Amino acid sequence: MQKEYSSKVKSIGGYLELQLSKGQEFYPLLLKLNTGRNALEYILKVKGYTLVHLPYYTCEVIMEPIRKLGIQYQYYTINDQMEPVVDFEVGPTECLLYTNYFGLKQETIRALSTKFPNLIADNSQAFFSEPIENVDTFYSCRKFFGVPDGAYLSLNSEARLKIERDISLNRFSHLIKSIETGIESGYEDYIKHNVELSNLPIRKMSSLSKALLSGIDYKDCKYRRNSNFMYLHDFLVNHNAYSFDASTVNGPMVYPLLHASPDIRAKLLEKRIYIATYWPNVFEWTTKKMYENYLAAHMICLPIDHRYTHSDMKRLLNVLKHLL
Ligand SMILES: Cc1ncc(COP(=O)(O)O)c(C=O)c1O
Repeated sequence: MQKEYSSKVKSIGGYLELQLSKGQEFYPLLLKLNTGRNALEYILKVKGYTLVHLPYYTCEVIMEPIRKLGIQYQYYTINDQMEPVVDFEVGPTECLLYTNYFGLKQETIRALSTKFPNLIADNSQAFFSEPIENVDTFYSCRKFFGVPDGAYLSLNSEARLKIERDISLNRFSHLIKSIETGIESGYEDYIKHNVELSNLPIRKMSSLSKALLSGIDYKDCKYRRNSNFMYLHDFLVNHNAYSFDASTVNGPMVYPLLHASPDIRAKLLEKRIYIATYWPNVFEWTTKKMYENYLAAHMICLPIDHRYTHSDMKRLLNVLKHLL
């Protein structure tokens, strides 16, 4: 009888596969999962928290795991430094979830970690901010790199959930289209895939996302973000109602420009400069009088990522200077 070869034996010959450079992931030692929200679910399951304190100013997808697990939650407000107004207690079975806003709040997380043992850092906007000791920290890769999905989790527990590996194949078309026919042509697919990321079970990071994340020049990506950020900051610091310490920037997500003018976003759009709103759900969660509502409307998050150089930033500033 002919012996069947196991698929585990490496094949020889056949067609040539897609070649990606084989480097190192940025967080090779962290848990690798499929989405940021599921990394939060992983923490909540392992730690068994009964109540989550979460900011009004965050993304609604954070609610997915909280609802799925039927955990109670309580919103808190932030001040003009985007730090929690802690007028509540965090009980021993409760946790404090805080977003590392734009990748600029690492020091706040450090300070909070000395007061709250059950702190969870949402570093979805702070890929390059490394986990702080004893703080459960999660990252969402697609906010920083051209990947369909993927998340990292630094968990202060040896407990592990038994999970299968995700497959990202059907969430990839927008990334291919952007190469073939331009970024705008892939936008519809991007939106569709965003929706498809909802309510996925917790899975290990797909082989595709992992392979893509292993081929990235992280040093260059971080350098470009810092350099573009500081280029904008030099000009915008005196126009920016949000003041922050720029001396510690570490590959932030965007340049946050807080400005009273109501139509900057629309005017930039006319020039094909796309500014995301962080976050549309905040308008539903808050009243007009709340600071978070103002932030959602007036925080203009300028792109500064690795795709851009100072000449792109100059173009951005040339458009902006007529609007400020
Ligand atoms: C602040 C914040 N946290 C968490 C997430 C969830 O990340 P993911 O889409 O990978 O689940 C997002 C974005 O979706 C986000 O903006």
